[in-house]
Amino acid sequence: MLPKIGVFAPLLAAIAFANPFGHSQVYVAPRQVWNNATKYEVKTPPLTTNWTYTIGTDPWQEYPRPQLERSQWKSLNGIWKYENASSPDAVNSPPTDLDNGSEVMIPSCLESGLSGIQSNTSFASWFLTNFDVPSDWSGEKVLLNFGAVDYEATVFIDGKQAGFHRGGYFAFTIDITPYLSNNGSFATRQNGAHELLVFVHDPTDTAIIPVGKQTTSPSHIFYTPCSGIWQQVWIESAPATWVSRFDVAAGMDGKVDVNVISIPEGSAEAVEVEVKDKGSGKVVGTGSGTSNTPFSFTVSSPNLWSPSTPTLYDITLKMGNDEISSYTGFRTIEKGEVNGVQRPLLNGKFEFLFATLDQGYWPDGIYTPPNREAMIFDLQTLKDLGFNAVRKHIKIETALFYQACDALGLMVIQDMPSLPPKGDSFLPNPDQQSEWERQLVLMINQQKSFPSIVTWVIYNEGWGQLYATTNPEFNLTSVIRTLDPTRLIDSTSGWRDHGAGDFHDNHHYAAPQCGTPFYSILSTPFDPSRIGFQGEFGGLGHNVSADHLWLVPQAVNSINQTYEISADLKTYNYRAHRLLDELREQTELFACSGAVYTQTTDVEGEVNGLLTYDRRVLRPDVEMWKKDIGALYDAAAGRA
Ligand SMILES: *[C@@H]1O[C@H](CO)[C@@H](O)[C@H](O)[C@H]1NC(C)=O
Ligand SMILES: *[C@@H]1O[C@H](CO)[C@@H](O)[C@H](O)[C@H]1NC(C)=O
Ligand SMILES: *[C@@H]1O[C@H](CO)[C@@H](O)[C@H](O)[C@H]1NC(C)=O
Ligand SMILES: *[C@@H]1O[C@H](CO)[C@@H](O)[C@H](O)[C@H]1NC(C)=O
Ligand SMILES: *[C@@H]1O[C@H](CO)[C@@H](O)[C@H](O)[C@H]1NC(C)=O
Ligand SMILES: *[C@@H]1O[C@H](CO)[C@@H](O)[C@H](O)[C@H]1NC(C)=O
Ligand SMILES: *[C@@H]1O[C@H](CO)[C@@H](O)[C@H](O)[C@H]1NC(C)=O
Ligand SMILES: *[C@@H]1O[C@H](CO)[C@@H](O)[C@H](O)[C@H]1NC(C)=O
Ligand SMILES: *[C@@H]1O[C@H](CO)[C@@H](O)[C@H](O)[C@H]1NC(C)=O
Repeated sequence: MLPKIGVFAPLLAAIAFANPFGHSQVYVAPRQVWNNATKYEVKTPPLTTNWTYTIGTDPWQEYPRPQLERSQWKSLNGIWKYENASSPDAVNSPPTDLDNGSEVMIPSCLESGLSGIQSNTSFASWFLTNFDVPSDWSGEKVLLNFGAVDYEATVFIDGKQAGFHRGGYFAFTIDITPYLSNNGSFATRQNGAHELLVFVHDPTDTAIIPVGKQTTSPSHIFYTPCSGIWQQVWIESAPATWVSRFDVAAGMDGKVDVNVISIPEGSAEAVEVEVKDKGSGKVVGTGSGTSNTPFSFTVSSPNLWSPSTPTLYDITLKMGNDEISSYTGFRTIEKGEVNGVQRPLLNGKFEFLFATLDQGYWPDGIYTPPNREAMIFDLQTLKDLGFNAVRKHIKIETALFYQACDALGLMVIQDMPSLPPKGDSFLPNPDQQSEWERQLVLMINQQKSFPSIVTWVIYNEGWGQLYATTNPEFNLTSVIRTLDPTRLIDSTSGWRDHGAGDFHDNHHYAAPQCGTPFYSILSTPFDPSRIGFQGEFGGLGHNVSADHLWLVPQAVNSINQTYEISADLKTYNYRAHRLLDELREQTELFACSGAVYTQTTDVEGEVNGLLTYDRRVLRPDVEMWKKDIGALYDAAAGRA
């Protein structure tokens, strides 16, 4: 359902007027100010975290886009109004008030306790807030930014449709300047001069769209869905010609490749880029060129980025009056032969990748971590145990997640969010396939400037993969290679492998089969022309006490589907020691170059996390795991 500008009729409150931009448009009168909408309150989720009742109503106040940061900005996060809509067609008849609605916290998933709603049937929803544009903003444009809205957003400013976006994992920006009304009826509102109304349509389970693990009937390895405005919302001020995207990639040789995309589209503005030492602020390199034309320059002898030395450099970008702060890290990731074996090379050396499967789910926030501190707690836990990587599993996080990985030194293996894994009867038709491919391109372009990301994963375990008729992963691998020649590509993680990409990636539970000459059902014999990798293993379970469980019947009833359950933590750690030791042996004897342990935390009915779902119990014997993980890196060094 893609509404066109101006078709809100039939609508009693709509008054047609001639707008100053040439086309006639329906004018929707401002909604009433509701004092009787249900007040915001955290809804008690089936399980809490330490953060559930402490974050208040304005979490996520950090600048949301650290690689393209402007100084004049204002967060629109906080308490908005929400009302359920009857159907996707409701977009054509915006409500005249939201009196019967509820307050909602933004950003959040409507299904989460933190939203204040905790719904489970949110297919169509209205969201409303008011805002002022600060009077001292010097720019000529006001840009409205969303970090992510799941799944489709239709945005109205002061009663006029200002934009539409499809795709639940992507940031988008709307130049709302032409829609900001000076009309008195909006300007005299009690909560702010302007009105932002968002219609969200989320057809999870009724359409074949990228959803990752979301389902409306969660059980076992599939979880509660997320609908709504689940990442940050903010406005900022920009000049008439502005930077809409800044691509930066810096290699171990000091070469910095940049591409500044500017609006108006195709404009060619002079651009200057300065790279600065983070501590001293000293300029170590400058480059200049023109927007919308890639250019490069060199910084001599930069300190390189790696998990053990996550050095970052600040960047200042100037294009006319648009001044942007950003950052980068200098590193090169490639595939290369070391003693006859194909390896992932970081800055020219074999780097063993040891990651967790990181799903990014929270009992109180579902897809949205309660706050930045909670999000970083997970990453710091991994770092402290000795992991040097995370596999971000069929989800894309806020930019602040990747910034934290850049700063902490955690390499990211980034999965494309998969289509629903419901077997051959639910494979995409050509339109659904091309929409999924469009969103794959969005992911690469949105994420490709984070130095911590080292690998893209296209397909997970054949989910949504047209493996019977065509092998789309070959074409998609070359599409990604063109968009981003600086990273490795794991075309098929798990199975349905036909030889595409840089990795031969096996999934096997609980024991690894990493670059080994033996393999199991659905896998294929190790292919020595590619990197031997264990995309998933482990999954050791431990049915912790009820007070750390997601006490929803469908979840608790699926705990018995866990691959392996240990009766106590002593046994759990004994089993983990055996598996980590097998992985070490496979690294010494065969062609194993890295692995992904399942998983960072428990999720709903899955009880196999290093941390429980509430993050209150850490299962690993920390000293033992640190020693065993250290032995993996030593084994890899012994093969280099
Ligand atoms: C909400 O409040 C307004 C006026 O304050 C009133 O007219 C309206 O009937 C109320 N709605 C409900 C559902 O109570
Ligand atoms: C949660 O709070 C408890 C009690 O204060 C504390 O011991 C624990 O370390 C906290 N856990 C996290 C993840 O913050
Ligand atoms: C929203 O409205 C639809 C249609 O009336 C209904 O099926 C659904 O249960 C409602 N959802 C919520 C969260 O109220
Ligand atoms: C709001 O709720 C009241 C009471 O339940 C009902 O009479 C009224 O029709 C509702 N208004 C809207 C706009 O749904
Ligand atoms: C302002 O709003 C009123 C309705 O409240 C409408 O009649 C009028 O046309 C609007 N004017 C402009 C310039 O949008
Ligand atoms: C949603 O609510 C319905 C009705 O209460 C229930 O049958 C269903 O299991 C719920 N779904 C989830 C995902 O909790
Ligand atoms: C490969 O993918 C691109 C981008 O989706 C598409 O334009 C092209 O037609 C595809 N080619 C083949 C052979 O499938
Ligand atoms: C798992 O537990 C559920 C609920 O108790 C039960 O229905 C199911 O048969 C059990 N499955 C197995 C494999 O034991
Ligand atoms: C796991 O623990 C919960 C809570 O104690 C219990 O209800 C459930 O039956 C247990 N399941 C298994 C498979 O041990």
